[in-house]
Amino acid sequence: MNLKGRNFVTLLDFTPEEINYLLNLSEKLKNEKRERVSHRHLEGKNIVLLFQKDSTRTRCAFEVGAMDLGMGVTYLGPSGSQMGKKESIKDTARVLGRMYDGIQFRGYLHTDVEQLAEYAGVPVWNGLTDMYHPTQILADFLTIKEEFGKLKGIKFTYIGDARNNMGNSLMIGSAKLGIHFTAVAPKELWPEQSLIDHCKEIAKETGATISLTEDKFEGTHETDVIYTDVWVSMGEPKDVWHARIKQLSDYQVDDSLMKNAKKDAIFMHCLPAFHGIDTEVGMQIANEFQHEYPRVKNGEMEVTDEVIESSQSRVFQEAENRMHTIKAVMLATMSDSYE
Ligand code: CP
Ligand code: NVA
Repeated sequence: MNLKGRNFVTLLDFTPEEINYLLNLSEKLKNEKRERVSHRHLEGKNIVLLFQKDSTRTRCAFEVGAMDLGMGVTYLGPSGSQMGKKESIKDTARVLGRMYDGIQFRGYLHTDVEQLAEYAGVPVWNGLTDMYHPTQILADFLTIKEEFGKLKGIKFTYIGDARNNMGNSLMIGSAKLGIHFTAVAPKELWPEQSLIDHCKEIAKETGATISLTEDKFEGTHETDVIYTDVWVSMGEPKDVWHARIKQLSDYQVDDSLMKNAKKDAIFMHCLPAFHGIDTEVGMQIANEFQHEYPRVKNGEMEVTDEVIESSQSRVFQEAENRMHTIKAVMLATMSDSYE
């Protein structure tokens, strides 16, 4: 397996074997880090991280991962560069591609990361666009593999805004790796029909299944994993909160859904999550909407505090795995094969 020079913008571009290779490499790097075995395979190289949106996990995962591999890192935040304001994406790609050995991009338009990838001449990694969040899926799947020892045949339920970057990417990843994927959401929040059809085609080859339902108890029945994400994603206007709470408050992950899943089911979330009033936005939303929608009281939105803090929750292991998997993506796309 040699992925040297490849971009990582969507899992649609990768075969099941390539994705499994990245997961195996992540496990190896995680073990090495635990055992304090140095893996500075990319000494002397440099990468740049372009962020049009905020981040905690993705930025830190790229920075720590790059430093562990021996590389230098530059961070350019939402207001720190000329990109998109005085300079086009195409020009930015050609400038940075001459200075750096790899580029991470987090932003709005998926076409922007595609354009960077086309013109940079060095590997470009998608750290989240409005459409996809592929590095997150590797961390999620590594976490599931660690829990259940396998991915093929796992029953996976995504509940919430199923047409956002997470819903789309989890459906693609599941189709590629033979996972039984169910999206639970009101119909108007299902992924685009063309993507569903495409994933169903992939699933025919891998043994995966793709289902969609509006019924939360049907969709979480005897499942292995219940996964949710924020109801309003970065870049969406504030005034969609009301409509989204109306659509999704009944789909909040609570104890009744966890009890409806398998006994040893786990809860996952890409984070950040709203499960209390100890955040600015959580507090505001609770104050504004709890009278009309009692479920969002105490700032609990997509998941209750009880579930995310329970022994079934794997969210922090999942967050740690961002770093090991992103490190694997950088190593695999910047060098020759590592088994
Ligand atoms: N899950 C995730 O991408 O988190 P950040 O927004 O903190 O990077
Ligand atoms: N759907 C979320 C994912 C955050 C990691 C967002 O785009 O804000």
